Amino acid sequence: MTELYPLFSLPTPWIRSFVRREGRLTLAQQRALNTIWPRYGLAPDQSFSQKVFPRSAPVIVEIGFGNGESLVEMASRYPEFNYLGIEVHRPGVGHLLLRLDQLGLDNVKVYCADAVNVLSLCLAEESCHRINIFFPDPWPKKRHHKRRLIQPKFAALLASKLELGGILHLATDWPDYAQYMQLAVSTCPQMRPIDPYALIPERPSSKYEQRGRRLGHPIQELAYRKD
Ligand SMILES: C[S@@+](CC[C@H](N)C(=O)[O-])C[C@H]1O[C@@H](n2cnc3c(N)ncnc32)[C@H](O)[C@@H]1O
Repeated sequence: MTELYPLFSLPTPWIRSFVRREGRLTLAQQRALNTIWPRYGLAPDQSFSQKVFPRSAPVIVEIGFGNGESLVEMASRYPEFNYLGIEVHRPGVGHLLLRLDQLGLDNVKVYCADAVNVLSLCLAEESCHRINIFFPDPWPKKRHHKRRLIQPKFAALLASKLELGGILHLATDWPDYAQYMQLAVSTCPQMRPIDPYALIPERPSSKYEQRGRRLGHPIQELAYRKD
């Protein structure tokens, strides 16, 4: 498998929204990263294009997919779309690869790299039909807020990658992060808030959502369309 983190760096420094926590890679996940990766994986310096899929179709990106269960479910439920997953956590990527292989899906590709780099360096402007970011790390302590993925600068990057009419769908179980997200996206003049509840049937419940519910956290959805 290709290098997890890109060897190149961006001209403007970004604060990482994650810490390198390898966690335990099961034998099956390790095997998946070695043997299934070539079918689904994209190298961190590889430009993304429709040509990586057998069929051209609108592209739905999921950033920070965790173990990939919701990505797999969406990709099998909606074969009329192509899906691109971006995740830094290798055990999660291994888990996703195992499921993709079991189901034989051919409408999913994966980057195992920082989404900031992938978006900045690999994705063309206006190439995404939708971008989903479900339950990004909340970084609840005030001194860590700078690590939150959704920041004005990142929101501008997301907006630049959406096609006209494209949708950004965010979900969180941290009320103050929801407010923070709203402020961040409101700095993008082209992004208009839309009713997020119209999109919910399409979002399978994720591991972190279930954890949030168990803890009694309210689940908040936000959605925006690029005009
Ligand atoms: C709290 S988990 C949520 C996972 C999943 N979306 C869910 O709802 O179960 C956030 C995920 O985002 C990933 N992540 C954080 N920053 C990232 C980045 N810059 N690029 C790609 N993935 C990132 C983390 O590795 C982690 O798996």
